[in-house]
Amino acid sequence: MAIRKSKTKAPAREKKQYKQKRMIESQVFDIPTLKELSRLIGKRIFDTLDHPIAIGKEAKVFRATKESVNGKKTYLAVKIYRIETSSFDKMMDYLKGDARFNKVKNKKLDIIKTWTRKEYTNLRLAYGAKIHVPKPIGYARNVLIMHFLGEKGKPYPTLHDYGPINPKEDFNQLLVDIRKLYTLGLVHGDLSPFNILQTPKGLYMIDMGQAVILKHPKAQEFLERDVRNILKYFKKYGIKKSEEEMIKYIKQK
Ligand SMILES: Nc1ncnc2c1ncn2[C@@H]1O[C@H](COP(=O)(O)OP(=O)(O)OP(=O)(O)O)[C@@H](O)[C@H]1O
Ligand SMILES: [Mg+2]
Repeated sequence: MAIRKSKTKAPAREKKQYKQKRMIESQVFDIPTLKELSRLIGKRIFDTLDHPIAIGKEAKVFRATKESVNGKKTYLAVKIYRIETSSFDKMMDYLKGDARFNKVKNKKLDIIKTWTRKEYTNLRLAYGAKIHVPKPIGYARNVLIMHFLGEKGKPYPTLHDYGPINPKEDFNQLLVDIRKLYTLGLVHGDLSPFNILQTPKGLYMIDMGQAVILKHPKAQEFLERDVRNILKYFKKYGIKKSEEEMIKYIKQK
């Protein structure tokens, strides 16, 4: 029999689980995520996790700071996927149809870990092809680290919040990037003004976790949806292109 050192009564299992659940719900990280974050800080990937930039159902994005030896600060974006509240069935659909990641086990933690690796892999491919996406730095468990897109520590706004600076140029640059992505063999799959940041260097695509290879059974459907979202948005700014015209351009060799 185990000997307890403390005289205080250990909380009942249910009570402990309830406390843990409340901690997660109240935005406090679960213990393995905390351990992962302190490991990353120990490895000096970043020095401090500053504050949340966005809190979504599936992920929280934080700004992090890294200080160099001469005291210069650089910022990073740290996206932490939530293990309890994600839409696992939806994620499974994207993973199972993508031969790169279809070995995923039907377990919450494995789905999230694979999803994080998938977003990193997609970003790395896109960044390597000079597509406007944040530069990925690394990933571990449910944590993805990438370059921070912002100025003076403030993140750039989304296209939805800010609107295009120069609609025609912004649209054309985006179209070229969608085409480059397609040439790489990928479709973003969740492209909308919410997943595009407006920066002084033009539009940057973010949120690439769901991006799939062209052999995914729904790749064409996702591409058409992405194109429709973009066209619908830019129509308000006088861009009049048809879906067919855009798809033809994207697929052109
Ligand atoms: N690299 C980055 N630099 C600056 N801000 C970022 C960066 N990545 C994400 N953000 C900010 O965080 C917000 C949420 O990011 P993202 O769209 O990747 O996550 P999400 O929508 O919560 O994720 P998901 O839909 O996968 O649950 C963005 O709208 C943007 O404001
Ligand atoms: Mg998003």
